[in-house]
Amino acid sequence: MKGDAGGKMIIKSKLKWVGLVGLVLSALSLFTHFLLARYSYTEEGITEYQAITIFSWRPIFENADLSSNNKLYKRLWGPVRRLESLQPHAKPRAHYSVPVSESDRYIFVRIRGGFHEIRSSICDAVVIARLLNATLVIPEIQSTTSSKGISAQFKSFAYLYNEDQFMAALANDILVVKTLPKTLKGARRKKEIPSFKVLNSQSPYYYLHHVLPVLIRHSVVELVVSDGGCLQATLPPDLEEYQRLRCRVAFHALTFRQEVQELATKILHRLRAPGRPFIAYDPGMTRDALAYHGCAELFQDVHTELIQHRRLWMLKRGIVKGNLTVDSNTQRLNGSCPLMPEEIGIILRAYGYSWDTIIYISGGEVFGGQKKLIPFHAIFENVVDRTSLTTSWELNRIYGREANLVDKYPKTPPSAEKEMRHEAWKTSGQRPRPLPPPPARPKSYHIEGWWGWVAESDNEPESTVIELRTNAHKLLWEAIDYMVCVEADVFVPGFDRDGKGRPNFASLVMGHRLYQSATAKSFRLDRKEIAKRMEEISDHLYEANHTWIKSVRSHLRESLLDRLTEESKASKSLSFLSFPVPECSCLRSESKGASTSQLPAAIKVARSCPAWMGKDVVSRPGDKENEDDLDEDDSGPFGLFFRQSGGSSNRNNGGGGGRGGGEMMSSKEETQMEDQEEMDGGDR
Ligand SMILES: *[C@@H]1O[C@H](CO)[C@@H](O)[C@H](O)[C@H]1NC(C)=O
Ligand SMILES: *[C@@H]1O[C@H](CO)[C@@H](O)[C@H](O)[C@H]1NC(C)=O
Ligand SMILES: *[C@@H]1O[C@H](CO)[C@@H](O)[C@H](O)[C@H]1NC(C)=O
Ligand SMILES: *[C@@H]1O[C@H](CO)[C@@H](O)[C@H](O)[C@H]1NC(C)=O
Repeated sequence: MKGDAGGKMIIKSKLKWVGLVGLVLSALSLFTHFLLARYSYTEEGITEYQAITIFSWRPIFENADLSSNNKLYKRLWGPVRRLESLQPHAKPRAHYSVPVSESDRYIFVRIRGGFHEIRSSICDAVVIARLLNATLVIPEIQSTTSSKGISAQFKSFAYLYNEDQFMAALANDILVVKTLPKTLKGARRKKEIPSFKVLNSQSPYYYLHHVLPVLIRHSVVELVVSDGGCLQATLPPDLEEYQRLRCRVAFHALTFRQEVQELATKILHRLRAPGRPFIAYDPGMTRDALAYHGCAELFQDVHTELIQHRRLWMLKRGIVKGNLTVDSNTQRLNGSCPLMPEEIGIILRAYGYSWDTIIYISGGEVFGGQKKLIPFHAIFENVVDRTSLTTSWELNRIYGREANLVDKYPKTPPSAEKEMRHEAWKTSGQRPRPLPPPPARPKSYHIEGWWGWVAESDNEPESTVIELRTNAHKLLWEAIDYMVCVEADVFVPGFDRDGKGRPNFASLVMGHRLYQSATAKSFRLDRKEIAKRMEEISDHLYEANHTWIKSVRSHLRESLLDRLTEESKASKSLSFLSFPVPECSCLRSESKGASTSQLPAAIKVARSCPAWMGKDVVSRPGDKENEDDLDEDDSGPFGLFFRQSGGSSNRNNGGGGGRGGGEMMSSKEETQMEDQEEMDGGDR
């Protein structure tokens, strides 16, 4: 019996082994199957660009004349020649003293806010440190440290920026230390150091007469900055050097942490790999901005409610004045709402950018997200963002090693806190007692998900640790987007105001581009004008006629230059960094061709560039005429959007979204279609 049983067992275990081997084999075969599938998947896209198919972007192009002498190419991508003599020059001009080392004056700054607010606040903090001859302690960025979600590897400033580069770049301007001296640290911990909550429009006078005396008495002050800055944007003429200091901080000293920098560079490489120029587009559709400007009705359903929720919250806190319900269409027609991705798509197509133009969508938050972006994806084939150009592994790596929150904080309540409250309730107090607290509401708030709480509650739930962590990640995403936007061949902002009515992320990008590469195309759209034009074609959006397209083209062309004047009025008084000209620029001594008189009035740069910058203006004698030609030039496709894309090949409207190629039409058909289109337009 025993032997029998033993035999059975042996057979059983043998069977197990066979089973296991079988399992392994089938797993292997499955694996190879996947490999093959993957392989053939890339093979199939043979006409497409191959090298980067590991990302979700599969570029599809038609052959186009990309020679930069082509007239159309110049109009779309060429430099704005009239700004050619404008050069970055943020170095001190007159005598500039070395930083004074008053060893007993420290300024400690705590900054709250989003990416663009942090950036301008740091610049202001540096200026104030110099103004007061104080040593600046590396600012603390609250949005990262206060969320315990980020990796322990980083301190707050170093999470985003490169500390050493910051200190080295400012060595001639101010003294910077990484932390307070020991004696003062103790005082800080005991909350004994005087603290100022400062506004973004604070004057130099305030610092010299209110903060300085306290600083001298206590050796240290703390500035709490939650307003997107702590020094007024316009400074009196005798403080012009301080404006240039702002530029040096923003454009030279503030570089991102190395890992972030590297990933952004990688993304730029991948964008440029197909050998074509690209557009960066920042929709600027953040929930706060939409709420502040009363644009809720441009959205539907839960999105509208979410925006209104926010607006109510803002009204209660006095951040925004007015009624809760606002006629969003009036706001839109007034240019007070972001341009929707669809509108941007239409005007870009009208300007002449073809359907296969590479467009990078920037922004840590595109509220209403995918739904609003669908029409845009339908208009342009190669729309990408940071997620389509990186692997999730690459993104995870820049976050650093993070504690595994998912284990510690289960997504579904009951939470630890709630349990504790229950315990406390059970054991304390007298009877009879009030009812126990209601159970914590499960929360479905999610960055891009369905915002389930809206229907149930008037109060938005507190942020969870995971959300705080997402906010910290958002800073890194925006850092990457910032670099891509600054380097882009063309930049288009959908909106230029943030959730406090001030210049936003895109404004900083525009300022940076104006400083660093004034000739690169940055469209300063007049939203009111564009909204007006959109109204004209609202009942046949995709079938505009020649006249309309021409008028859009001329508007866009004007927005490259003529709107500089208005922008300097509208933005400069709110944020110096959004328009750092003329203080931080100089005029390169001109040769033939471009002349100063061509510069718009707003750019009253009087200062010639120092000799070491060289004299050659790139433009050659003949170019000037070409430029004038270009202004008149209306070459390029006039047919809009899906039907016709100029050049030799074509695609159809591709049904839902137009993805994945289309039928080819013969040129004859195409011409007929174009004619038809024009006739259609003429009829209306
Ligand atoms: C800072 O130092 C400079 C140079 O020594 C001096 O002219 C200026 O008055 C000082 N400012 C303050 C606020 O101490
Ligand atoms: C708010 O609404 C009321 C009535 O609807 C209107 O009279 C008033 O002008 C509105 N206020 C603002 C600031 O729009
Ligand atoms: C339109 O916008 C301007 C500023 O851009 C503002 O002064 C004006 O009050 C707005 N008008 C309406 C009707 O909202
Ligand atoms: C072109 O379209 C615009 C807007 O739809 C319309 O107002 C205009 O009359 C049209 N012009 C011609 C010549 O058809």
